[in-house]
Amino acid sequence: MTTLNFEYFYTWVEANLNIQLDAYKEKQLRRRIQTIMNQAGAKTLEEYSTLIHSNAGIKKQFLDYITINVTEFFRNKDLFDNFEHLLVTDLSKKFDSISIWSAACSIGAEPYSLAMIVDRHDLPLKQNILATDIDDTILAKAKTGVFKDNELKNVPLLDKSKYFKEKDKTFVLDEGIKSKVDFKKHDLIVDTYRKDFHVIVCRNVTIYFKNEIKEDIYRRMSESLVKGGLLFTGATETIYQPDKYGLRKVASFIYEKID
Ligand SMILES: C[S@@+](CC[C@H](N)C(=O)[O-])C[C@H]1O[C@@H](n2cnc3c(N)ncnc32)[C@H](O)[C@@H]1O
Repeated sequence: MTTLNFEYFYTWVEANLNIQLDAYKEKQLRRRIQTIMNQAGAKTLEEYSTLIHSNAGIKKQFLDYITINVTEFFRNKDLFDNFEHLLVTDLSKKFDSISIWSAACSIGAEPYSLAMIVDRHDLPLKQNILATDIDDTILAKAKTGVFKDNELKNVPLLDKSKYFKEKDKTFVLDEGIKSKVDFKKHDLIVDTYRKDFHVIVCRNVTIYFKNEIKEDIYRRMSESLVKGGLLFTGATETIYQPDKYGLRKVASFIYEKID
């Protein structure tokens, strides 16, 4: 059996695709690369990198598979409900207007869920919701505002008819909600973070990163929040010792910036 040259591949991917694979959890990542490489019919990583280079379809398949962009509106509905409650009863009372960042937003279901909450409660936004992701293709899709029925399963029926129009078995998002979100390419590992957010939603992405990378991300997110601001993480992304980052837990997977 050939031993795969992952070091070569990581260096190649960083130089050619600008993605730092050594930040992702090793075992999980290697397994994923091997699966997708086999699917492409390559026997070695050198062969696979040549294929990625020469075949746009294989390149897209690799990027989609590695970045894992599964998402849905109001993902983990109970947690989102708690979060909405805190936004409305607590955060919006503390600040005249709020700025929100949805980091690693995938196809936009998450920032658009936030925009619906803003609309429902008429929350004053300081500027448009910032929605970022490392993946250009996914951001282009997000901007279209077109979704599949299964991605909307947590959207209450009334909101579904209020905010979406059904067209050819897809659901097209209302322009008013779309216009509240600005999409931008951003890599959580290497790019700088804007400051003065009242809310950062960063869910289901740090699970793929090594501990030191995850810690660095939470430290930088805390620095990006104003005092009293909230960080909302994914349903498996507990922050142990939040005080290490100047955060305190206020509800399941919701942390407040304390200093
Ligand atoms: C599983 S999705 C999570 C989407 C959404 N936050 C949610 O919870 O439903 C993970 C997203 O993280 C993005 N991602 C992966 N690595 C990233 C990085 N280094 N910087 C920014 N986004 C990244 C992927 O492109 C993907 O869209």
